[in-house]
Amino acid sequence: MMDTKHIGIFVGSLRKESFSRKVAEEIISLEPPTFKFKIISIGQLPLYNQDFDDHDQVPESYISFRKEVDQLDGVIFVTPEYNRGLPAVLKNAIDVASRPAGKNVWTKKPSAVISNSPGMLGAFGANHQLRQSLTSVNIYTMQQPEIYLSQISKAFDESGKIDDRTTDYLKKFINAYVDWFNKF
Ligand code: FNR
Repeated sequence: MMDTKHIGIFVGSLRKESFSRKVAEEIISLEPPTFKFKIISIGQLPLYNQDFDDHDQVPESYISFRKEVDQLDGVIFVTPEYNRGLPAVLKNAIDVASRPAGKNVWTKKPSAVISNSPGMLGAFGANHQLRQSLTSVNIYTMQQPEIYLSQISKAFDESGKIDDRTTDYLKKFINAYVDWFNKF
C-alpha cells in the first residue's frame, strides 16, 4: 500500500461564489488514488509584516499556516487575475510561508498552476506572475501542460455543474501533475 500524498490547493479568491474555488472543488472530486487533495485557507492571514518575524510577534495564524504548508507533499494553485496580475491574497500567502529567512516551507514541493477568468485571456498575466514568485521560493512548478481557463463562467450550468469539456481538460491536467509529482 502506497503512502497517501497530501496536496494543498491554494485558491486566489475569497469570495463565496468564486469560480476559482469551484474549479478547485472540481479538482478535489478528480483526486487520483493515493492522493489527498485539500483546499488550504489563506484568507485568515494578516498582511505580511516583517516586524512580526524580526520582533517575535508572529501571529498564531502564521504559525499554523506555515506548519500546514510544511507538511504538504505538493501544492496546486488555482488563481484568478486582478489587474493583469496575481491577487494580493495569494501573493500574501506565498510571502508568509516563505519566511522567516532560511525557513521557507515551500521549497522543493512539486506544484502546478491553473488560472481562470470569465474573460477571454484565461488570466495569463496572473498565471505567469505567480510562476515568477514560485521560482523564488524554489517550488518545482510543472511547465507543461499550461492551463488557462477562459470564459470560466460559461463552464458552469445553473445548478453549478461544470461542463464535460472542462472536466476532461482538468482530468488531463491532473494526470500530468501526477506524472510530474512522481518524478521527485
Ligand atoms: C478583476 N477581473 C479581471 N479579470 C481578468 O481576466 N483580468 C484582470 O486583469 C481582471 N482584473 C480584475 C481586478 C479586480 C480588482 C477584480 C475584483 C476583478 C475579473 C475577475 O476575473 C472576476 O471577478 C473573477 O470572477 C474573479 O475570480 P473568482 O473570484 O471568480 O475566483
